[in-house]
Order: sequence, then structure tokens, then C-alpha cells
Amino acid sequence: MLGSANADLVVSVPRRPAGGETVLGGDTAVLPGGKGANTAVAAARVGGSVSFLGAVGPDQYGELLRSSLESAGVRTELLRTSSRPTGIAYITVTPDGENSIVVAPGANSDVVVPELPWESFAVLVCSLEVPVDVVEGAVRAAAERGVRPVLNLSPVTEVAPDVLALLDPLVVNEHEAASLAGTLPGLLDLGPKSAVVTLGARGAAVVTPEGVTEVPAPEVEVVDTTGAGDAFAGALATRLAEGDPLPAAAAFATRVAATSVTKPGAQPSYPTPSDLR
Ligand code: RIB
Ligand code: NA
Repeated sequence: MLGSANADLVVSVPRRPAGGETVLGGDTAVLPGGKGANTAVAAARVGGSVSFLGAVGPDQYGELLRSSLESAGVRTELLRTSSRPTGIAYITVTPDGENSIVVAPGANSDVVVPELPWESFAVLVCSLEVPVDVVEGAVRAAAERGVRPVLNLSPVTEVAPDVLALLDPLVVNEHEAASLAGTLPGLLDLGPKSAVVTLGARGAAVVTPEGVTEVPAPEVEVVDTTGAGDAFAGALATRLAEGDPLPAAAAFATRVAATSVTKPGAQPSYPTPSDLR
């Protein structure tokens, strides 16, 4: 897994403030997050053998991230400590479980890809909030060595066409899909071999040249959707690495993501197989 690691500073609010407005919220929760670290933790919780490549700062938030990754069983030899502060995500959560996030990337801007033992990896999953040229280089290197590249293009960022063409799959949520293409099959016009679109409470859709397969989600009570897409990407990767076909891996990932939204936070809400609904 290659991507960001952030400390999530989370506050629940009755509603989001407008410009110039002040709204009082609940107590601040400090939770381990970041799209990349979330993906790694989700993948490991459901049994994946995972290494995380990223960067944190020399501060207490860096320690929080390192220990969350390690206690989920993620290997952290490739997690570097840079001189900039650990990335922070300022998150507000409303009573409907929706969130708004501002990210201060900090150390995530210092992620670099060293020489890697590619032969020991089956799948490389990347997400953004780290420099896009680092992600592009890693995807190219992985594909050259026969490692399957998966990209969760979140937040949406412009990526080189030759890199998009290597993805199997490109993973996006429905808003990201709409901003990238007019229709779900239209996502393949960007070049990836396949695409998976997460559809919130409606599950996910798998897009291949053969067509679109919908994967329904179990009905759950939504508490906090933060990091549900990352949970999806991590669980998907674990199953792809085990050799599942894409629709089966997506069906499993949908259950993992649905379970994650029933609890607050990102990483602390990710299920083990026995928690699955
Ligand atoms: O996808 C959710 C994540 O986005 C949060 O954990 C936050 O850190 C931001 O990176
Ligand atoms: Na959650």
C-alpha cells in the first residue's frame, strides 16, 4: 500500500458552518487515518499480508499512526519519518454520518519510493494525498515487475494516461466517477483495464469491457462513513491478492465497507472477518 497517513481530528457537529459562521461541536477525537494507512489497516484486518509505504513526522501523531498500523499487523519498514509534521485531517461529522475533510498533508508530501522487493508483492494499491508523480512511478514500476496495480483515485487528481492504462482496477466513488466520466462504462475510456465504483448504501459496480456488474451492499445503520472507501479498497486488494475474480472481491469489499460505517472513525471501525455483517 502506498499513500497518506494522517491524524484525524474529528468533531461531531449538528450541521456544517457557513462562511463566517461559528458552530459548537462535541469533544475532539484524535484517530489514526489517512487514505493510504486506512487502506493498509483494512486489508490487514481481513487477513492480507500488507506493507505500508508512506511518511509521518517526528511527533506524537506519527507514533499514533505507526502503532495503529503495527497493531493491525501491517509491516512498517517502508514507513519513513520525515522532518515535516505528520499529516492532519480536520474532519466534521454530521448526524447523518456524512463528513467534510480538510487535509494538511505535511510529511505525506515527502513520500518517496525506494528500491522495492517487487517479487514479494502480488498487488500494489495506491491512493492520493501523496505526490502524484510518486504514485505514477510506483504504478509503472509495479506493472513492469508483474505486480497488479490498483489505484483509488481519491481525491481526484490528474494522472498520466500511460499510468491509467495499467490499472486493474481503477477504484473511485460515485462522485469521483461522475467528475471523471459521464457514465460508468465511460470510465474505461480513461484507459484502465477495469474500474470499480463504490455507490455508498447501494454497494458497488464493477466495470469491465464485458459490461457493468452491480454488487449490492447489506443494509446497515450509518454512524460515520469516514474511510469507508479506503476500507473497500483494502479489502478488495486482499481478495485480489488471494486470486479472487474482481466481482467476488468487490462483493467482499462491499461487506467490509458497510460494516465500517456502523462505527465511528476510519481505522478503529475496520472489521475482522468475525465482525462482518
Ligand atoms: O478517506 C478518509 C480519510 O481521508 C481520513 O482518514 C482522512 O485522514 C483523509 O485522508
Ligand atoms: Na467508520
